[in-house]
Amino acid sequence: MEPILQIRHLSLSLPVKKGMVSILHDVSLDVAPGQILGLVGESGSGKSMTAFAVTRLLPGGGHEKLGGSIRFCGEELTEKSEKDMQAIRGRDISMIFQEPMTCLNPVFTIGRQMTDVIMTHQKISRAEAMKKAEDMLASVHIRQAADVLRCYPYELSGGMRQRVMIGIALSCRPKLLIADEPTTALDVTVQAKILYLIREACRRLGTAVIFISHDLGVISQICDTVAVMYSGHIVEAGKAADVFETPEHPYTRALMAAVPKFTVSAAAGDRLFAIPGIVPDPSEAMAGCRFAPRCPFATEICRTAPPSDTLTGAGHLVYCHNWQSAAPAIGVLRGKEAEA
Ligand SMILES: Nc1ncnc2c1ncn2[C@@H]1O[C@H](COP(=O)(O)OP(=O)(O)OP(=O)(O)O)[C@@H](O)[C@H]1O
Ligand SMILES: [Mg+2]
Repeated sequence: MEPILQIRHLSLSLPVKKGMVSILHDVSLDVAPGQILGLVGESGSGKSMTAFAVTRLLPGGGHEKLGGSIRFCGEELTEKSEKDMQAIRGRDISMIFQEPMTCLNPVFTIGRQMTDVIMTHQKISRAEAMKKAEDMLASVHIRQAADVLRCYPYELSGGMRQRVMIGIALSCRPKLLIADEPTTALDVTVQAKILYLIREACRRLGTAVIFISHDLGVISQICDTVAVMYSGHIVEAGKAADVFETPEHPYTRALMAAVPKFTVSAAAGDRLFAIPGIVPDPSEAMAGCRFAPRCPFATEICRTAPPSDTLTGAGHLVYCHNWQSAAPAIGVLRGKEAEA
């Protein structure tokens, strides 16, 4: 299927005290209608900045530098004015975030906030907008939607608030939904319901979704395709089932090895695997691969020259010099860690 969003060679620099700092490097992604792309990586890898670049909600106060191309529905977003982007946000592209309380206004009812969004983009009366809001809440499986519309955000549970946010985000039937860690603050049962809701809405409305999470378990449950980010680069990308079946970048393997296993036979004292080191500061200049200092398979070339994207036999894109020689089993990483 033709992608609705096509990001090519996206770069982003943000102003800091010492000058400009490069946050994103050569990011390329595709998302098709009715499909969910998972964007995964450790904290600080650039997931949210990629989303903010698409919606142009960047923190640079207008001094940020955006390079490359973001094509949405065949139009180039990087060339749009702020006024055009305001019309696109909420109507064609919606976002939901980790903590709905920070996005919902505490002094207005849910009904008032939902109808405000609907009436910003559609020329209809408050009563008509209220009816649409009620239908939308019902479609995200909220019973007694009319009662919820009269509630203030503090009167609802975290899971209910996130359903309301999804309802608001979908109220104008956007073509693209960006969900940035939408389930991180929820318990696992509510999380499962919210994931189901996003997946079902995406299929039913044909909405393309970018689902951001640092949780590989969540990504593997909900996504069709996946892109693994590290220090502003996409280091591995492909169909989710393929990437999780045969992860080929040492960073993807390390992330998978770091997922805690639920097993009743785990002995007290068994240690969880953690990737050694931390994500480099974006202002830190590096000649080679930015994962090299933490990579157990790094060789001289990894420290001196940046890798290029390679299409592997399994059909993933991998950004690594040594993906072929690095041992394919995830367990090998645990072994290397034990030796260190
Ligand atoms: N306002 C800012 N000015 C300069 N750099 C910033 C700013 N906001 C974030 N950054 C940097 O941009 C990089 C990417 O941040 P981003 O928020 O995209 O990470 P993330 O992958 O979403 O992490 P998390 O999982 O913690 O949300 C980080 O190194 C961060 O320090
Ligand atoms: Mg983030």
